[in-house]
Amino acid sequence: MEPLIIGNWKLNPKKTLEAINTFKAIKKALQKDSKTVVCVPTLYIPELSKLMSNHISIGAQDAFETELGAHTGKVSALLLKQYKVSHCLIGHSEMRASGDTDEIVSQKLRSVLKQGIIPVLCVGEKERTEEHWYLHVVKEQILKAFDGLSPNEIKKVVIAYEPIWAIGKDAIRSSTPSECEEMTIFIRRVIADMVGEKIAHTIKVIYGGSVDKTNAQSFMDIQGVTGLLIGRASLSPKDFTGIINNAYDTLKEKNKQYANTQKNQRKTKAQK
Ligand code: PGA
Repeated sequence: MEPLIIGNWKLNPKKTLEAINTFKAIKKALQKDSKTVVCVPTLYIPELSKLMSNHISIGAQDAFETELGAHTGKVSALLLKQYKVSHCLIGHSEMRASGDTDEIVSQKLRSVLKQGIIPVLCVGEKERTEEHWYLHVVKEQILKAFDGLSPNEIKKVVIAYEPIWAIGKDAIRSSTPSECEEMTIFIRRVIADMVGEKIAHTIKVIYGGSVDKTNAQSFMDIQGVTGLLIGRASLSPKDFTGIINNAYDTLKEKNKQYANTQKNQRKTKAQK
C-alpha cells in the first residue's frame, strides 16, 4: 500500500513567507514518485493551496461541525473545500484537550466526509497502565466517532494512532514499534468487528507521536502501519522529505522483490 505521510505544522511557522518557503522546500525535495500532505494553519491555506501539486497537498487541522452561521471564530469543511484541501485532522489530542468531546469529533467527521475531504481521525490514550485500559479508551474513541456511519463512509477515514504521552516536546518518549504494532492490530480488530475484515484490512492506520528521521522507518516497517503523522519534524524540509522519500524507496524495493519472486515462481512452474 502506498505510504501516507502527513505533516502537522500545528501553530507554526510565524510568518506567511516562512510558510511559503518551507512548503516550497518540501515540494522541491520530494522525489518524483513521493507524495505527502501538510496540515497547515488555516490562515496559510489560501496562499499555500496555490502551490499544491500531484505530489503535495494541503490538509486542515480541524473543521467546525456546522457549515455556516453564527459561530464566531470557526472554519467549516464547507469553507475549506474551496481551497481543495485534501485531508482534515479530526479529534487531534490538542483539540480534544481544548474541548472536543467524542460527540463533537463524530459530528466533525461527518461534516468533513460530506464535503469529500478525507478525515484523519486521531485517537490515542493519555497514559499506559498495566491493566490495558488504554485499549478500551481507543476502542471507545473509534466506536463513538464512527457511530451511525455506513461502511462506505468508514472506509474513507484514515485513523491516526497518536498516544498522547508520545506527542510533542514534552513527550515521555515515542512509542516503541511493538507498542505501535499491538495497537494497530487492535484498531483493525475493532474495525473488523464493526464493518468486516475487508475494510479492516484496507483502512489506513497511521502512527504519530515524536516521529523523526531516526525512528520513522521502524514504524513504517510494521505491517499494519500505512503511514505517519509528523508534527515537529515536518517543519524541517530536510528531515520530513528524508522520511517520505525513504518510505517510498522502501516500497519500491518491496514491490521489486515481490515482482521477482512472482517471476521466479512462474519460471519454476514452466520448467516443471
Ligand atoms: P510530534 O507531534 O511529532 O511533534 O510529536 C505529532 C502530532 O501531534 O501530530
